[in-house]
Amino acid sequence: MRTLLIALWLGAALTNVAVAQTPAAPGAVQSANIMDIQPEASTQPGYAQQNNAERAKVQPGNNAPMWRQVGSGTEGTSSLPKSQAPEAGVLIQPFVQYPGSRLTNAGEAWCQVRNHWLIPYGGSLLLIVLGAIAIFYWRIGSFKLHEPRTGRLIQRFTPFERSAHMFNAAAFTVLAISGLVMAFGKFFLLPVMGTTLFGWLAYILKNAHNFAGPLFAVSLVIVIVTFVRDNLPAKGDLNWLLKGGGMFSEHEVKSGRFNAGEKVVFWIGVFALGLVVVASGLVMNQVLPGIDYSRSTMQIAHMVHAASNILMLVVFMGHIYLGTLGTEGALEGMKTGYVDETWAKEHHELWYDEVKGRA
Ligand code: HEM
Repeated sequence: MRTLLIALWLGAALTNVAVAQTPAAPGAVQSANIMDIQPEASTQPGYAQQNNAERAKVQPGNNAPMWRQVGSGTEGTSSLPKSQAPEAGVLIQPFVQYPGSRLTNAGEAWCQVRNHWLIPYGGSLLLIVLGAIAIFYWRIGSFKLHEPRTGRLIQRFTPFERSAHMFNAAAFTVLAISGLVMAFGKFFLLPVMGTTLFGWLAYILKNAHNFAGPLFAVSLVIVIVTFVRDNLPAKGDLNWLLKGGGMFSEHEVKSGRFNAGEKVVFWIGVFALGLVVVASGLVMNQVLPGIDYSRSTMQIAHMVHAASNILMLVVFMGHIYLGTLGTEGALEGMKTGYVDETWAKEHHELWYDEVKGRA
């Protein structure tokens, strides 16, 4: 037993000598016995400016200069071809300051924007708007027709307009539900469902999101082209907006086929936010040609996508409320294509006069 212990001790000692005597390539990452490191070397002039090779001479095994370079986004070498993996040599992205983040490496900066701004403030905004709509419905209720229905119908939407809207609204609903679960699900679903079920749900919804995205993009363009003409600014629009559409008075302010409120939803929600949401989503799907799909491109696309989607959801919560519970008879027009003359006269009198004049 004693002989065995001596043999083991000798073996270990010889191995240490061999390691200590093996010269490392200059500048290469080295290891060292912690007992050999000279702490006093850090007091030498120019210590902070040393590169890894210089540091290895005074403190073998201290690779701080190399890691500092890695952390500042310096490009190293990678065996992967640059054409296929242009960023493979960059382990940690360079420093940047995204709006709302500290000056730090881009991955961390993106994380800060997401976790300190988009999720808490975006989520709160959505809840506040939802609450405001609920209170509005509770206190004011649905806008009812003042006169009885005539039974005479007017065509409000063609089958083509209705199909375009229906496709768009269906894709939007899938995107909104899946997007909300991906962004906020871990706060309200994960604790109830547990990791396995929530993992499956998020996986399914993420794929549904990627599938519905292009459908939404195509139908959005069709919706824009289909409805743009009747959403162009008209004479009475400013008056309508200044009077809030006459929402709290006996009579609505007269409007054409679409009122100024609907036009605001069209230009801000459908056109501007819709296009930003779609463009940033397509960048994240990596389907647009000629774009450098680097990590920073994806981070910026994600932040733009999340912020514009939160605003779009705010606008569309209002649109969906007014199109369903909020206005008696509005959904009927979108579902069947026809509205009662009373509805047309009370909500869009100028359009009603125009249709009657044409008839
Ligand atoms: C998801 C549920 C949705 C519901 C229940 C809904 C409901 C309605 C209803 C009832 C109307 C007819 C309003 C009227 O007669 O004046 C309408 C019009 C319209 N909706 Fe929606 N909608 C939804 C989603 C969307 C989405 C996602 C978009 C586009 C991104 C959209 C764009 C439009 C447009 C452009 C109009 C024509 C009014 C205008 O151009 O100002 N809707 N919607």
